[in-house]
Amino acid sequence: MKVKIAVFNTKPYDQEYFDRYTNKEELQFTYFDSPLNRDTVNLAAGYEVICVFVNDTLDRTTVEQLAEMGIKLIALRCAGYNNVDLDAAREKGIRVVRVPAYSPEAVAEHALALILTLNRKTHKAYNRVREGNFSLNKLMGFNLHGKTVGVIGTGKIGATFCGIMQGMGCRVIAFDLYPSEELKARGVEFKELEAVFRESDIISLHCPLNPETWHMINRDSLSKMKDGIMIINTSRGGLINTQDILKGLADKKIGFLGIDVYEQEENLFFKDMSEMIIEDDLILRLNSYPNVLITSHQAYFTREAMEEITLTTIGNITEYREGRALTNELT
Ligand code: NAI
Repeated sequence: MKVKIAVFNTKPYDQEYFDRYTNKEELQFTYFDSPLNRDTVNLAAGYEVICVFVNDTLDRTTVEQLAEMGIKLIALRCAGYNNVDLDAAREKGIRVVRVPAYSPEAVAEHALALILTLNRKTHKAYNRVREGNFSLNKLMGFNLHGKTVGVIGTGKIGATFCGIMQGMGCRVIAFDLYPSEELKARGVEFKELEAVFRESDIISLHCPLNPETWHMINRDSLSKMKDGIMIINTSRGGLINTQDILKGLADKKIGFLGIDVYEQEENLFFKDMSEMIIEDDLILRLNSYPNVLITSHQAYFTREAMEEITLTTIGNITEYREGRALTNELT
């Protein structure tokens, strides 16, 4: 029997990859541009499975409505699941699967791209040279070699990032609830969180967003960091208190900020808003700082990762279709 799947927040590249790899005799994907939330949940009527991404909002109300419509499976085409009320899903008998790892390298490499761009200002050099300005004024950076990089969360992405930064000649220190023996053997020093804040020249966030980690970068933690700290966030926007970070930038406590994620990103990211008035004062203020670099949740976005996301999602739904154990189920 064919399983009917409603895909929310679809971009052309999502459709292209699903169409390329789907056996259309088994799975029938219908694509909606719209995000899934309380206002759009009715689109899911008539489907058995929904497929969603990072900025779809599956709160209790939405999950309960999905259950009433007969949705049996939520297939996340991402790793993070902070946007899904798992308790509500369990109570309503909806199973939830995800793509636990698609390309840790993609995200870790993007974190390095943010660091190098902020530090060596290649984005400015590119524009300058194209306009015939060959001056070096204000392009001075610093050597990464010998600097201390603090990694918060040393799971798949954090561990990959540790190796990359060691390759750059950095001293890598880390905090994780479960320090990794393998990383210790590779020379990563695990420390208390406070020590990571205190000793790092660069801090990169790679832990999940949950009630414990929400706003972990705030006025208090900033006060413990070195002046001129570089903060990189490719994990989830909610790890950072944006108001406090703006104060840190104004006070010059923060020397550089590179973010691929932003707390209110669901209203902005993945959309072309170049001809619109952006009604988000915080991102406008962040954008006004020359030492802030924002990318719109593109860290994962490589060919290899898209392939893995597509194949794992199809695999997850196929397991459900065939009544097999769900390898990537969230419980
Ligand atoms: P993972 O589950 O392999 O690793 C997470 C690590 O964080 C684990 O080692 C865990 O012990 C640790 N952790 C949990 N709570 C912590 C705490 N309170 N303090 C410090 N460490 C803590 O996850 P993975 O695959 O490495 O992904 C990390 C995050 O990256 C995801 O949660 C997701 O939000 C984000 N992500 C962002 C992408 C992007 O395109 N920007 C793409 C993929 C993931």
